[in-house]
Amino acid sequence: MRIPGSAIVILGASGDLAKRKLIPALAVIFEQENLFDSSVIIGSGRTDFNDHDFRGKFDVHGKVKDILFYHKGISGLKRYIEQKGNFSRVIFFFALPPSVYSDTAKQLFEEGFRDEARLIIEKPFGYDYESAKTINHELHEYFHESQLFRIDHYLAKEAIQNILVFRFANSIFYPVWNSRYIKEIQINASEKIGVEERGSYFDRAGIIRDMVQNHLMQLLCLLTMEAPVSLDAEDIRIQKLNVLKVLSITDCMRYQYKGYREEPGIAPDSPTETYAELVLSINNFRWYNMPVYIRAGKALNRKGTEICILFKSLPRLLFNKSGGIKPNRIVFKIQPSEGIILDLSGKIPGSDFFISETKMKFCYHDVFGDVMQEAYQKLLLDALLGDRTLFVSAEETELSWEKIGQVLDSGSIEYYEKGTMPATHPLTDWIDFEDYETACG
Ligand code: BG6
Repeated sequence: MRIPGSAIVILGASGDLAKRKLIPALAVIFEQENLFDSSVIIGSGRTDFNDHDFRGKFDVHGKVKDILFYHKGISGLKRYIEQKGNFSRVIFFFALPPSVYSDTAKQLFEEGFRDEARLIIEKPFGYDYESAKTINHELHEYFHESQLFRIDHYLAKEAIQNILVFRFANSIFYPVWNSRYIKEIQINASEKIGVEERGSYFDRAGIIRDMVQNHLMQLLCLLTMEAPVSLDAEDIRIQKLNVLKVLSITDCMRYQYKGYREEPGIAPDSPTETYAELVLSINNFRWYNMPVYIRAGKALNRKGTEICILFKSLPRLLFNKSGGIKPNRIVFKIQPSEGIILDLSGKIPGSDFFISETKMKFCYHDVFGDVMQEAYQKLLLDALLGDRTLFVSAEETELSWEKIGQVLDSGSIEYYEKGTMPATHPLTDWIDFEDYETACG
């Protein structure tokens, strides 16, 4: 067995996350890894439950219910776990608001948890650079960085992990992956939904904190970093940090959808952005003088996360004398319907050299069928194995906050209709990602 006997403790177990994501994901892991004789899952929270009532909350197999227990609060938890068995690892999942992270870590320490503990924590890791530093500092007072597993669920997406394989397991792309051949990179994260019932959280955050500072910056690092010497968490971390260190934001536009201020939990005069466009540059030899465009938003016309690597145009020679040949593009479809598409020019059959744009496609569904793993399943398994490769380090979060800091809450705000793409001052000629929608449908 790869996984040592573990007690997995969900702090905040009566909440929605445990029911929707964590327990179902753990149920699959327990089944796949056959952990029923060696490990237990303990829910903990402020509510009074007995084991029977707690188990009743979840729609999982009887075998899983048998290893599911409940303990109220943290006080007495250490002894409770010792009575359940001899576990070399105690994994705590913080399904809690970030405001109580530090205090909870302190309580766990005071309860006697030490090297055996691993803490899995969810974003947001702070609100800005200063608060991120404070949280990290407070957590480090009780637990070592190697015991902290900061989740960014984008890193668990197959199509995002595949960026590394695409870049570093295909020799043909290696020589062209730089600003000599690439004109620009576009990263797009569009959502159709608005803020729904998360208004009070979102209104304090805005889309730059919610999506760009974490998920999209991580994506950018994977796309542009140098090859790590191994897949170890530390080696990947070093390369991601090297990108973050030389990153600068050169422009930013902020927008808000009309009607946002009337939604529950939103201040009537809220200046929070629900859509943003940013221009970044990576000031190293590989990416010198090449812009990266990021846009993210809610209440837009479609849901889709895509990346476009836009190559430089051909010289005005031969087939391209009139400038009509479209530059090559590689589009990574992160979701939905994951895939990679390479736009090429091809000859239309016939006696003349008429050229048409064609798409070469790699669609996950066609190649691998429906085998996508649920993000929490992957992340929880990695945490149980002690593999921090897909988790975010303290330094990455701080540096990313530091860089994004210059555009937080600043500048004017423009407005857009719900269900449309804001288009008043686009920072680039955005690729029409809708063209790729059916490519891997
Ligand atoms: C979360 C944000 O981190 O990511 C949400 O807080 C957003 O606002 C979500 O909707 C998007 O995740 P996904 O996996 O649907 O792209």
